[in-house]
Amino acid sequence: MMAARRLSSLLSRSLSFSSSGAASLLHSLAGRNINRFSTAAAVEDLITPQVPIRYTQHLINGQFVDAASGKTFPAYDPRSGEVIANVAEGDVEDINRAVSAARKAFDEGPWPKMTAYERSRILLRFADLVEKHSDELAALETWNNGKPFEQAAKSELPLFVRLFHYYAGWADKIHGLTVPADGDYHVQTLHEPVGVAGQIIPWNFPLIMFAWKVGPALACGNTIVLKTAEQTPLTALLVAKLFHEAGLPKGVLNVVSGYGPTAGAALASHMDVDKLAFTGSTDTGKIVLELAARSNLKPVTLELGGKSPFIVFEDADVDKAVELAHFALFFNQGQCCCAGSRTFVHERVYDEFLEKSKKRALRRVVGDPFKKGVEQGPQIDGEQFEKVLSYIRSGIESNATLECGGNRLGSKGFFIQPTVFSNVQDDMVIAQDEIFGPVQSILKFKDIDEVIQRANRTRYGLAAGVFTKNVDTANRLMRALRAGTVWINCFDVFDAAIPFGGYKMSGIGREKGIYSLHNYLQVKAVVTPLKNPAWI
Ligand code: NAI
Ligand code: MG
Repeated sequence: MMAARRLSSLLSRSLSFSSSGAASLLHSLAGRNINRFSTAAAVEDLITPQVPIRYTQHLINGQFVDAASGKTFPAYDPRSGEVIANVAEGDVEDINRAVSAARKAFDEGPWPKMTAYERSRILLRFADLVEKHSDELAALETWNNGKPFEQAAKSELPLFVRLFHYYAGWADKIHGLTVPADGDYHVQTLHEPVGVAGQIIPWNFPLIMFAWKVGPALACGNTIVLKTAEQTPLTALLVAKLFHEAGLPKGVLNVVSGYGPTAGAALASHMDVDKLAFTGSTDTGKIVLELAARSNLKPVTLELGGKSPFIVFEDADVDKAVELAHFALFFNQGQCCCAGSRTFVHERVYDEFLEKSKKRALRRVVGDPFKKGVEQGPQIDGEQFEKVLSYIRSGIESNATLECGGNRLGSKGFFIQPTVFSNVQDDMVIAQDEIFGPVQSILKFKDIDEVIQRANRTRYGLAAGVFTKNVDTANRLMRALRAGTVWINCFDVFDAAIPFGGYKMSGIGREKGIYSLHNYLQVKAVVTPLKNPAWI
């Protein structure tokens, strides 16, 4: 919790969490019966969220509409596996309708024509509205995703608002260059929006992923068709509605719910989509890249899986390193693309680190994510739950030492005990694959050259953590590690301005920060003779 609090203070900036409405009701119900993972009572006794589910249809051209087929699919509460809503199920025809609305809004609508300042004002008004509805949004996010309510309310909603403030700030500062070319020419570049952006997001951070994708695309003047993850369709529909209340013209942001191989694939392969952005698994990333290539060669940005090292050197303060390594792995039920899922510890501090990590995992508070003080809720769904348990079995079978955890928690929903393995070897499946669950693997190393080599020996390259007091060690590691982010003596710092993305099979391109704008702009070179040339 200590590290989580540190994160939340880093993320929150000046926005305060309002304790009105749904949140205060939830919190008044919360507080007792906190479950530690050795007992399962509290997961059987769930708080009923006091928020309405207002929107379940697609949002196309400013209107909520049913699926063209009339079909719906269920959205679940991962605490119990119960259905909480039936949501319009998008497919090819819904994507076609959404893309034509976005196309029209781009080609004819007011959005690309209005001044950048006007666009910026709409983004700011939207951020204010989200802030006003943040209790409701946080409750809905927790209900549909299972993440701790406190995390959603105090870290993620403030970060969401901060991201839109950040992109609102960019909207009227995007411009080209004057280029000194040879000859008598005036040469300039125009930075123009790409057009219709297709965006496919995952379920682990539904609102944050919305902000990372929608923020830069709109700041640059594009229009959007967003496909949410089938597990978490609800919050995007509510925020998209708020965007329209803030003055976003119809057709600029269209949200279609549905499954990947149907709605997602239709978006990735659509001939009228000018750019695709995707976050999810490396396997699906390859599929969407191929669909984009086979259709109209739309440029693709990908934010994919990871197997990030978290490296603890012998000079580290062990207690602090244990806490940060624990946070790096277990945050968000371990469902983070950048989770520090290979904890490398120097042999001189290994035994102490291991003992304390085990104790920390045993102290982790698992239970109903609506209850105050709960650090870990359920995994997102039955599929992920089974996947994580099968990786735990694989760890046991490959002779890693199971220090604690290893089983489900309770008898309903998708709760898993915080699990720690020691004696993990590089070639074990649990040290190579993305587990995406609350399973920490602790590996021992002897020296810096060895750990650099081993840390880089993975197909992924999303992030890395380095814990040391030695500035030479830190300097060397930050250059040697092949990863898109290196956190030194910190982890999971997600400021709006910090670029994020992967080396190797962790992705293509960067999100957040100034780099994210490059994904959503075309550069047009304009050349004008300075003197009247002979040919005119
Ligand atoms: P996924 O990559 O299959 O799904 C992510 C998004 O892609 C969802 O919106 C889904 O509907 C869409 N999608 C799936 N198949 C598609 C297709 N053929 N065409 C177009 N869109 C498609 O991830 P999934 O199945 O939810 O999780 C599998 C694993 O992926 C997880 O266990 C985890 O290891 C990893 N993952 C990584 C994430 C990250 O943040 N990088 C987020 C979610 C999952
Ligand atoms: Mg999948």
